Amino acid sequence: MQTEIDRCRTLVQTCFDGVLSSQGQSPVELGMRYALNGGKRLRALLVVESAALHGIDPKQSVWSAAAIEAMHAYSLVHDDLPCMDDDDLRRGQPTVHKKWDEATAVLVGDALQTLSFELLSRVEAAPSSQIRIDLISSLARASGARGMVLGQAQDIAAETAETPLDLNEITELQANKTGALIEWSAAAGAVLGKADPLPLTQYARALGLAFQIHDDVLDVIGDADKTGKAVGKDRDAGKATFVSLLGLEAAQKRAEDLVNEACEAISPYGNRAETLRDIARFVISRET
Ligand code: IPE
Ligand code: IPE
Ligand code: MG
Ligand code: MG
Ligand code: MG
Repeated sequence: MQTEIDRCRTLVQTCFDGVLSSQGQSPVELGMRYALNGGKRLRALLVVESAALHGIDPKQSVWSAAAIEAMHAYSLVHDDLPCMDDDDLRRGQPTVHKKWDEATAVLVGDALQTLSFELLSRVEAAPSSQIRIDLISSLARASGARGMVLGQAQDIAAETAETPLDLNEITELQANKTGALIEWSAAAGAVLGKADPLPLTQYARALGLAFQIHDDVLDVIGDADKTGKAVGKDRDAGKATFVSLLGLEAAQKRAEDLVNEACEAISPYGNRAETLRDIARFVISRET
């Protein structure tokens, strides 16, 4: 899988370099490039691999991969703001509001979000205008007030809720906060290939949940030198997580079950989906 990860990282970086090279040196433009650096590129890899399953060349799918990474980067810049999680470190570097200031970080996030849609609107993303519209509208829904933004609002509200969230509520919160963008990434391959997205959507629903559980696990047992962000913050902030509700071991077991579910969901693709299964296993074994 390392080969696929490296290839995907290079493709995405080349795409960003090309698109952003014509941009200037204003703090917002510098901040955008800064915020796009690093990261595991997991969502990009899901796009490229799910697209490859439908015969789509990475040279094409990289535009959708870069779009979701821009959207994700925006969500992280805003997630780290003092009014949200108040974090100083991201991807091993000072967060955007620490490096510049809060206003710049808000605007960098805004501009990364619009960049995401700009990338999907380009003809290189898909020759069919209908497919481009499908990608754009599904990403708008996944990232908006009934998707990622809703999950972020639920996450913040839970910090001060009078009664702790139950399992269903945490599952819904995480499906919105993290699951929606992961689901879009895996389904993008089917959209690009005009195929039934159901197996990939089911795969991504289970994977997205496992991914966020492992993120919460790393907040407890992870090493900040490896994760590139502060650890031990969720409990201090009173976050509602699977770990806070079930405890560490049961949460890890739940993540393992979900990964098995994810691997099973893509059985219609047979052995051709082995990289997607490797990705699922990586999601709960990663230290970063
Ligand atoms: C972190 O996502 C934020 C969550 C949704 C939990 P990643 O762990 O994918 O972050 P990067 O892109 O690798 O930095
Ligand atoms: C962030 O979740 C989710 C989004 C940015 C949408 P977290 O707050 O758990 O992510 P980290 O731990 O800061 O990366
Ligand atoms: Mg958060
Ligand atoms: Mg956070
Ligand atoms: Mg976290």
